[in-house]
Amino acid sequence: MEIKTAPADADLTDVTFIVGVLAGTQPLPGAGELVESADPALIELAKFEGKMGQVLQVPHQIAKAVLLVGLGDEATFESIRGAMGNAVRSVRTQRAVTNLHQAPIDAATRAVVEGAALGGYQFRSYKTEGEGLVIESLELLGGDEDEIGETLVTTDATNLARDWVNAPALDKAPQALAAMIGEAAGHAGLQVEVWDESRIADEKLGALLGVAAGSDRPPQVVILRYEPEGAGAHLALVGKGITFDSGGLSIKTAPFMEEMKDDMSGAAVVSAATIAIARLGLPIRVTTVVPLTDNAIGGNATRPGDVLRPVDGPTIEVLNTDAEGRLILADGLGIAKRHEPDLIVDVATLTGAARVALGDKIAAVFASDSGVSSRILEAASRAGEQFWEMPLFKEYAKTIESDIADIKNISASRYGGAIIAALFLSRYAGDFDWAHLDIAGPARWRETVGEQVKGASGVGVRTLVELARSLVAATKPSTVS
Ligand code: BES
Ligand code: ZN
Ligand code: ZN
Repeated sequence: MEIKTAPADADLTDVTFIVGVLAGTQPLPGAGELVESADPALIELAKFEGKMGQVLQVPHQIAKAVLLVGLGDEATFESIRGAMGNAVRSVRTQRAVTNLHQAPIDAATRAVVEGAALGGYQFRSYKTEGEGLVIESLELLGGDEDEIGETLVTTDATNLARDWVNAPALDKAPQALAAMIGEAAGHAGLQVEVWDESRIADEKLGALLGVAAGSDRPPQVVILRYEPEGAGAHLALVGKGITFDSGGLSIKTAPFMEEMKDDMSGAAVVSAATIAIARLGLPIRVTTVVPLTDNAIGGNATRPGDVLRPVDGPTIEVLNTDAEGRLILADGLGIAKRHEPDLIVDVATLTGAARVALGDKIAAVFASDSGVSSRILEAASRAGEQFWEMPLFKEYAKTIESDIADIKNISASRYGGAIIAALFLSRYAGDFDWAHLDIAGPARWRETVGEQVKGASGVGVRTLVELARSLVAATKPSTVS
């Protein structure tokens, strides 16, 4: 679907006109005439009341058809974005136009474009039949071309992350995924470095090697660099890239393994966000570190009780090989720190416990201090993504003291698992400003609704772009004369 602007007086004879309707069948300002001149008997027959989730296509004398989309009680960023997602999945037409971006709220254009571009996403690479959804072009009447273009950069990046996550593990071995990320990043003008297994050994990334030991598919590390002129702050991103998490020798049961191709979502999200930041030309330096490996069960697999040496920080007694994300992130954080960034953010599908705590629509944020967490939460709120802060409660760190190494990778207690994983990572973030985003819940969406499509969500991409924007704003040289 192409999303663009159209002149306010565009010819409507051949188009489907998408209009917003509030609960109680109240048209949005600007949509009154279109809604009122539609056949009321049809609207009543279809029980269309403007509820969120409702859509109704009716014949119309002004346009080829009018698609009424329910906004619920209020026109907000979220309701317009959601309604637009519902709209684009319910019509087949060459041209659709809308005026929903004229709704009297902040960022209405962004809401419309996000809803359409994210809600219209489809992953069809492995489907042999059918054509899926088709709106060939969506036109915003009198819309702002720059705002549309800017939004499409982040929605494209979100959909790119979704593509990578939705791909079967078979087709995204560490080498293959590194190549996919490298290619996309190269097109965006980023510097790309890929470390192979022997370089990883030379660099002494012992924790990553320990996780990779059970797989025939060798690990990789991708490092992306964006170093624009005039950059103020330096942001480092680290993403968990487990290309399939079987659990290792502490093997998962079948139902828990089903979705484990998703376990590279953190890697996909930080890579796609870096690409978006570069495409937007934001004046900020970004270094992105992505360790990639399977967690498999070959004859050489790391055993419970083995001790691994990450490149920097405490030695690790591995008591459960299924707590592998924190191991590869320990090495990822070690590499990130070498670049001496102002802030490190890691993103990971790290713990089932985060999902238990917050459900599968909210991601957990842990941060080294409240300044960092507020910055992330504010960015998430601007992006319209759901994040909630969880505590780095130091007392629980006692539970991961090891008898024979400096730290162990699980605690004896079953409780507070997301916090314990975050405390583990904090040891490798050291004194840096740091945040950890546990996206184990919302990395996958379980229903198609609004701007979300069942499958990989790409959650985090837009929050990281907003975070980069906020760091740019905070480091801008004072313009006071
Ligand atoms: N990749 C999983 C976490 C996960 C679970 C992500 C469900 C998405 C959905 C992670 O590597 C894992 O297995 N964690 C264990 C840790 C435990 C052994 C301490 C978990 O959460 O059960
Ligand atoms: Zn695991
Ligand atoms: Zn995992």
